[in-house]
Amino acid sequence: MMLTMALAALGFAHVQAGKLAVVRVFSTDEEVMLLNASSTLWSTVGPCTSKPSSMIDLILVYSKDLSSNSMASEVVMDLETTFSNNASSWVNCFAEIKNMSAMLNPEQDVYDSNGYTTNKHWVSGPNSVFKSIVDAMYTGPFKGMYDSFFLMEMDAVPIKAGWLDQFETEALEMPSQNMAVRGSQYLGDKWDLFKHMMPEYLVEHINGNAIYNLQHNWTQYLHNTFTASGSNNMMEEMAFDVAYAMITMGAMSGEAPFAAAWTEAGGTNTTYNPMSMLVGNYANTLLNTSYEFPSFIRHGSSKNLFENLPDADVTLVVAYFDMQGHLRETIPTNHPFKKIVGLTYFSQTSTTEEIPAPGGNVTLKMEQATKEPYYHLCEAASKVDTKWFALTDNYHIVKAPVSILMETMDKPVLPYVLKGSRYCGERPNCKASMEQAEDLFSIDLMYHHDKYEVLYKTADAIQFCAAWDVATQGKGWSNCSLSFGPTADDYIAWKISSPSFNVSNEFTPKDKTRYGWRAWTSLWNPAPVDDRQCSTTLYGIKEYLETLGNISKCAVDYVENSSGCIGDTTCMWRPMFESGVCMLNPKST
Ligand SMILES: *[C@@H]1O[C@H](CO)[C@@H](O)[C@H](O)[C@H]1NC(C)=O
Ligand SMILES: *[C@@H]1O[C@H](CO)[C@@H](O)[C@H](O)[C@H]1NC(C)=O
Ligand SMILES: *[C@@H]1O[C@H](CO)[C@@H](O)[C@H](O)[C@H]1NC(C)=O
Ligand SMILES: *[C@@H]1O[C@H](CO)[C@@H](O)[C@H](O)[C@H]1NC(C)=O
Ligand SMILES: *[C@@H]1O[C@H](CO)[C@@H](O)[C@H](O)[C@H]1NC(C)=O
Ligand SMILES: *[C@@H]1O[C@H](CO)[C@@H](O)[C@H](O)[C@H]1NC(C)=O
Ligand SMILES: *[C@@H]1O[C@H](CO)[C@@H](O)[C@H](O)[C@H]1NC(C)=O
Ligand SMILES: *[C@@H]1O[C@H](CO)[C@@H](O)[C@H](O)[C@H]1NC(C)=O
Ligand SMILES: *[C@@H]1O[C@H](CO)[C@@H](O)[C@H](O)[C@H]1NC(C)=O
Ligand SMILES: *[C@@H]1O[C@H](CO)[C@@H](O)[C@H](O)[C@H]1NC(C)=O
Ligand SMILES: *[C@@H]1O[C@H](CO)[C@@H](O)[C@H](O)[C@H]1NC(C)=O
Repeated sequence: MMLTMALAALGFAHVQAGKLAVVRVFSTDEEVMLLNASSTLWSTVGPCTSKPSSMIDLILVYSKDLSSNSMASEVVMDLETTFSNNASSWVNCFAEIKNMSAMLNPEQDVYDSNGYTTNKHWVSGPNSVFKSIVDAMYTGPFKGMYDSFFLMEMDAVPIKAGWLDQFETEALEMPSQNMAVRGSQYLGDKWDLFKHMMPEYLVEHINGNAIYNLQHNWTQYLHNTFTASGSNNMMEEMAFDVAYAMITMGAMSGEAPFAAAWTEAGGTNTTYNPMSMLVGNYANTLLNTSYEFPSFIRHGSSKNLFENLPDADVTLVVAYFDMQGHLRETIPTNHPFKKIVGLTYFSQTSTTEEIPAPGGNVTLKMEQATKEPYYHLCEAASKVDTKWFALTDNYHIVKAPVSILMETMDKPVLPYVLKGSRYCGERPNCKASMEQAEDLFSIDLMYHHDKYEVLYKTADAIQFCAAWDVATQGKGWSNCSLSFGPTADDYIAWKISSPSFNVSNEFTPKDKTRYGWRAWTSLWNPAPVDDRQCSTTLYGIKEYLETLGNISKCAVDYVENSSGCIGDTTCMWRPMFESGVCMLNPKST
């Protein structure tokens, strides 16, 4: 008695056990298979070291009707059998296994397969399933049974043993620290390109794979507000996790009607809580397989993990249009370019220099170009002695930390944007580049590729350049009968025009607007305007200024320089990969 009181007084009250649940949601056939595979995975990445003191149930939630899908019910039954026979080591960690059908009909069960650019209503499936789960906990079959639950979707993959113990620890801390929702903000950097167009609640939202404290009134309020029908039907408009962020951040900044509810629920700065070691949200960030995740569970599909191209296999060829630039300052950083060739479009004696960098010395060769600047891609192809090369110019810096991602050593990731995307629609360059490629190689292109983001295979590029010279006979760059010199779109169009080409054998294409593709280099200043007098201006003052407006001073000035970044009040530092990135502090403007 005395001891209990003493412990309680010392703040140890939270060690008492709770009633918790891990909720796994599955919908597609692929997810059913992932669920089936989880038994094997969990026997190696064990959930607990010994039976938890809390009662933790495992709840399997199928988005439709379990009895209508024989494969899904077979997998659920297998897991239930494994459980009742105590046939795998993970079984011991859970108190009970349960199932639930969210009963969506096939039209409602729209999961995002094409991205929201093509289907505005893709959110409604996951939202309805989430609503069913929380309804079940507050008013349905699981009413009053749980203090909190962890939503663990199929792409939440345990990577460290003891993850269920971590869930228990974090969940039990929540009541005493006034937490309603606890999880992870997005830790990748997919949004670099689009961040300026995004509201803060979207950038800073806690991903849905989180712990929900059902006893907290703010959790109840979020659920009620999100699911309320009326003129603002949030469930049709945005994903539940984004809506939760929007309501919470609105409440915290005093917005009616959320602010009054916030006060009533006793909301504080810990209530919506991104401090979690349980789960790390990498979503669609593309990473290499040896990336070390600090959290116990990675939210991010295994299909987004890639190999790194060995440094010895690649050269970066830099077009020096003039003597300006900061590329050299960013060479001593974490990047794969141990061989850099600078081709200058001004008088230059050839030099070779060794520059120490974290991953080994970088050899920088400078020499004067012999061809026109627009022909950079093809002159580069003739200069390199590595299997692959990449391109940039003196208006760029190395955007460390960065690596070259390959599915196999012969298959690079190929970032693209859709022809019909807003991104391409807003840029005359994008359309013109695709038109040139289609015209030269007589094919239809669906995707636009950036010249500085494609990894070129040297042997292929040499053949491509011969074909480009033939295809452009009677046309010229200087008199505007060509919009550009050889581009990445031309290169891909040339590849596609070959009858034996099969894109899935040579590339792993990824939509940049959906996946966290990190470009290898980034602008510090826009390139000078195109001074040709062509009938349409592809890159004039307007485009120059737009580009200028989007360059982040923080990213340029503090490449892998955390102390410099932290010392600048307009910037914020985000640890990432080997080091981190410096970005504009949205709160400073
Ligand atoms: C589930 O996985 C097991 C192996 O762990 C396999 O034997 C079984 O066929 C799988 N079930 C389905 C429906 O594919
Ligand atoms: C699901 O749970 C119910 C009880 O709630 C049980 O009767 C059934 O066997 C379970 N399994 C499947 C595959 O439906
Ligand atoms: C389940 O099996 C483990 C050994 O794998 C054993 O320690 C445990 O006591 C068993 N649990 C039950 C309920 O039989
Ligand atoms: C939570 O709301 C209930 C009524 O819905 C109320 O009785 C209770 O006092 C509230 N708790 C807190 C901590 O505000
Ligand atoms: C949260 O608020 C408390 C005071 O209520 C303050 O001491 C603490 O620094 C705040 N934390 C953050 C991260 O803002
Ligand atoms: C790296 O370059 C420095 C000169 O910048 C040189 O002293 C050193 O020997 C080089 N290291 C290797 C391993 O080549
Ligand atoms: C444009 O320049 C190219 C190459 O110099 C030439 O072959 C072509 O005839 C010119 N076209 C026009 C319309 O002047
Ligand atoms: C392309 O290659 C993939 C895998 O190598 C194969 O599955 C696919 O059928 C091929 N497509 C065509 C059109 O040949
Ligand atoms: C640059 O910013 C403008 C608006 O200021 C935006 O429309 C445009 O898409 C941005 N460009 C890039 C490359 O992000
Ligand atoms: C980091 O930035 C600070 C402030 O601009 C600068 O003084 C320092 O030299 C930089 N450090 C490195 C390693 O570049
Ligand atoms: C994978 O990425 C991590 C972090 O970016 C880096 O530390 C590691 O060296 C990379 N692995 C390989 C094999 O390049």
